[in-house]
Amino acid sequence: MTDKIAIIGFGNIANAIITPLLEKNLIQPENVYCVVKSKKSLENIRKNYKHNINVYESSSKDSNKIWDCQVKLLSVKPQHFKDIIEPDILKTKDNLLVSILAGISIESLTQKFPNHKIARVVTNIPITVGKGLTGIACGENLTKDEKQVTKNLFENSSKVYEFSEDYLDIFLALTSSGPAIIALIIEALSDGGLSGGLPKNLSEELAMEMILGTICLIKEKKITTSELKNLVTSPGGTTISALRVLEKKSIRSALIESIVSACNRSKEFS
Ligand SMILES: NC(=O)c1ccc[n+]([C@@H]2O[C@H](COP(=O)([O-])OP(=O)(O)OC[C@H]3O[C@@H](n4cnc5c(N)ncnc54)[C@H](OP(=O)(O)O)[C@@H]3O)[C@@H](O)[C@H]2O)c1
Repeated sequence: MTDKIAIIGFGNIANAIITPLLEKNLIQPENVYCVVKSKKSLENIRKNYKHNINVYESSSKDSNKIWDCQVKLLSVKPQHFKDIIEPDILKTKDNLLVSILAGISIESLTQKFPNHKIARVVTNIPITVGKGLTGIACGENLTKDEKQVTKNLFENSSKVYEFSEDYLDIFLALTSSGPAIIALIIEALSDGGLSGGLPKNLSEELAMEMILGTICLIKEKKITTSELKNLVTSPGGTTISALRVLEKKSIRSALIESIVSACNRSKEFS
């Protein structure tokens, strides 16, 4: 898929992206060049990571080897963005830098890495179990092949969507804040079960399995959410009684506004 690849910051998310590619032999460990900040992380990767990749401390001379790789994944925390400095002269041409940093625009990336073509990516935490959602926005000058290389990086750990950079804030709001919102809903529903006398663990398991089952039903039967709602809501029954409470408490509006608010906050960072 690509020859050599550099990973600038090999933390949780980079690990989730690269490991499936190594596992499927889509890249070879000797072609992966990683750089991390601390000796502790370096030693941890050398000792515990199951693939024998090249890894360097950012302060070492050898860490410059990352700049000889045509394709680079930039995966440090946004606060460390300023520390990554492109050398004046690069040996390779048509360099591609794929950034997963939240809130750093293609324009800022282009200014900081003038000898690279840029793809800006938003991915979410379920990528760590191979169930991520990834949104890709490419700089104007990327070739079809370079767009494909970018997609290939994420395809084995997530579902990939390509669109204009304008959509990344709302994509991030829905897909990256979404897991916390769903966790809160699971917790609250499970507390409802607890209030009715169910043991905590059982109540939480039931809430999660119910959500999984509901999603499977919608997808497998290809029904809309409204159709599902009507299916389980009988006149004067328990479900309409529950839904009435939620409507009174404006839960629908609260959820809509939560995503709009996350999107606005994301725009403030960009
Ligand atoms: N966490 C999430 O839920 C999530 C989801 C989607 C996207 N993201 C994005 O993914 C990026 C990485 O997040 P993460 O959770 O994977 O972070 P992380 O686990 O903290 O990993 C960051 C990595 O960057 C390294 N690093 C720091 N400064 C460096 C430098 N100057 N040169 C080279 N490497 C350096 C760190 O090394 P040390 O360990 O030695 O400090 C570490 O390996 C962030 O920009 C974030 O916006 C995060």
